[in-house]
Amino acid sequence: SVCLHCLTLWERTLIAVKPDGVHRRLVGQIIQRFEQRGFKLVGLKMLKVPEDLLTQHYCQLRSKPFFPRLLEYMSSGPVVAMVWEGHKVVQASRVMVGHTNPAEAQAGTVRGDFSVLIIYRNVVHASDSLEGAQREIQLWFTGKELVNWDCCDQSFTCEL
Ligand code: CDP
Ligand code: MG
Repeated sequence: SVCLHCLTLWERTLIAVKPDGVHRRLVGQIIQRFEQRGFKLVGLKMLKVPEDLLTQHYCQLRSKPFFPRLLEYMSSGPVVAMVWEGHKVVQASRVMVGHTNPAEAQAGTVRGDFSVLIIYRNVVHASDSLEGAQREIQLWFTGKELVNWDCCDQSFTCEL
């Protein structure tokens, strides 16, 4: 959606709490970080991710040796998928989520604070670019599932 104050487009990104994060009851703490940062929640659902959605979501990784393990991990329980909106939310979320390998993730990031050394069990997904975010949001959510609304403090969270 468009910010009515600075008329720039708000970015949207896909954030998903992966099965290990759901099993470990981390959903609330992860949502809290995005709320606290000032981003706006525009979509939220819990699902057991169908295999065809997973293969489309991770299509760029299909030839990687860890791909079968990744699909197995992502199918090991439900996922909580969200769309967050805000100024530069794509890049900011990547920083908040931290390095792919939890062993290298900085303290203060979700992965650095909550995950152990096993690389692929890294708690959360965040889109890696604006184009990637648009592609992933369309894969995971229908238009009707995304809620357009104006948050009361929106004029303070745009770039004038
Ligand atoms: O999730 P992120 O964008 O940080 O990393 P990615 O390179 O897009 O990889 C997607 C996911 O594949 C990671 O989050 C890991 O769960 C998994 N992965 C893995 O199992 N083994 C690797 N060597 C690299 C990634
Ligand atoms: Mg990625």
